[in-house]
Amino acid sequence: MQEQGLKQLYIDELKDLYSAENQLVKALPKLVKGAQSNELRQGFEEHLKQTKGHVQRLEQIFEMLGESPKGKKCKGMEGLIEEGSEVMDEDYEGSVLDAALIGAAQRVEHYEIAGYGTVRNMAELLGESDQVSLLEETLQEEKETDEKLTALAKQINAEANGSAASEADEDMGETRAQATKEDTRKKPKRVA
Ligand SMILES: [Fe+2]
Repeated sequence: MQEQGLKQLYIDELKDLYSAENQLVKALPKLVKGAQSNELRQGFEEHLKQTKGHVQRLEQIFEMLGESPKGKKCKGMEGLIEEGSEVMDEDYEGSVLDAALIGAAQRVEHYEIAGYGTVRNMAELLGESDQVSLLEETLQEEKETDEKLTALAKQINAEANGSAASEADEDMGETRAQATKEDTRKKPKRVA
């Protein structure tokens, strides 16, 4: 009886993640368009590909379980995406906008890491070792993405801080100003 209860919860949590990943597949192209630095844009493009793979892994798991992946809407992801598009409507530009996008993307990653950690542990308890492996693969990719974003944030936040400083202080070294110039594209039209 107890195990049946946990199994139902496991399926519900997987449905929630399936909704979350599908929402993200739709939302990530907006981040790709919004990103100002090439590196960040490529990072979002890469994660979009990965996210499509995460959807497929979940579909595989649902097939193993003989269950439908549909039937839930992940409100947590809906809220995170909404906040992400709000920040794109603010008047941030260049590396400051990128810093804001990274903040939104990392919130998403942490939310997914929590979700996948939960279902992976449940799959272990339920003895579903093939599903554990699939969930573990996705979990690792979410963690790697989060780490890449942390590394990018260090660089981009420094640039964002540097470009504000260069406006205020004409003595600032040329190197940082040039780096900022090279990495910053002209801001595209509003996408959201
Ligand atoms: Fe994912």
